[in-house]
Amino acid sequence: METRKKSDGSSENIIELRNLRKVYRVGDEKVVALDDISLDIKRGEFCCLLGTSGSGKSTLLNLMAGLEKPTRGTIRIKGEAIEKMSEKKLAKFRQEHLGFVFQSYNLLPMLTALENVSLPLIFKGVPRAKRDKRAREMLKAVGLSTHEKHKPSQMSGGQQQRVGIARAFVAMPEIVFADEPTGNLDSKTTREIMELITRLAREHNQTLVIVTHDLQIAGYADRIVHILDGNIEKIEINNTRGGSNEEADNNNISSTDPVPAGV
Ligand SMILES: Nc1ncnc2c1ncn2[C@@H]1O[C@H](COP(=O)(O)OP(=O)(O)OP(=O)(O)O)[C@@H](O)[C@H]1O
Ligand SMILES: [Mg+2]
Repeated sequence: METRKKSDGSSENIIELRNLRKVYRVGDEKVVALDDISLDIKRGEFCCLLGTSGSGKSTLLNLMAGLEKPTRGTIRIKGEAIEKMSEKKLAKFRQEHLGFVFQSYNLLPMLTALENVSLPLIFKGVPRAKRDKRAREMLKAVGLSTHEKHKPSQMSGGQQQRVGIARAFVAMPEIVFADEPTGNLDSKTTREIMELITRLAREHNQTLVIVTHDLQIAGYADRIVHILDGNIEKIEINNTRGGSNEEADNNNISSTDPVPAGV
């Protein structure tokens, strides 16, 4: 099948990683967290990074999200090499295009649910009335209209994570990164949270990159990138997701050839 044109946006690589390497120094020791990673992620795709503890998943996600710099290699997001950006430009780029969901929710304890969700809009300079309206809509979308005034300590883990998700999506980022977003939740709540994240992302064709060691979560993704010892071990197209994985037919990335030819 012929690859669709970029003009309809459907085959655009929103993330392009080339020969990424990350080495940490701890005293005299070198830790190779990522060895040599090349990967393309398409707009609107749900990509899961799956691997055991210490395999390098969080390091890879943090590099993609601009939270850390690579030792070597390039990270292009929307065509821009983010590893070359100044801190100021990167901060603005992240505010405009990226959202984050953390395992430990990372909500500010003194702020209400509504205020926590509003934070990204405050940083973007959105006026009060508009951001309250938008934050309310997001809280409604995650089923927490009744908890606007609750502080994090007055909510369950699943509710706190739903606030975290509302905050990640409130500014309509093109890409949402999540590191073990259900790591602290039971399996029923995990299912609810995964269904919520995927529904929100599909509504606006947002790209999702989720780190997990959990096969149940990986099952929601279009593509599962297996990470082993800082490298891509294989890439699986998830045909069992159903409905929305037609990209798989057009994808020239196979499990034996993680990098498209000619790059
Ligand atoms: N800041 C750091 N300083 C030194 N070593 C680090 C640092 N961050 C990560 N590492 C090392 O890099 C490797 C990859 O770590 P990473 O956190 O990416 O793994 P992970 O796949 O996310 O694991 P987990 O599932 O346990 O979260 C590990 O050996 C880890 O000890
Ligand atoms: Mg991790």
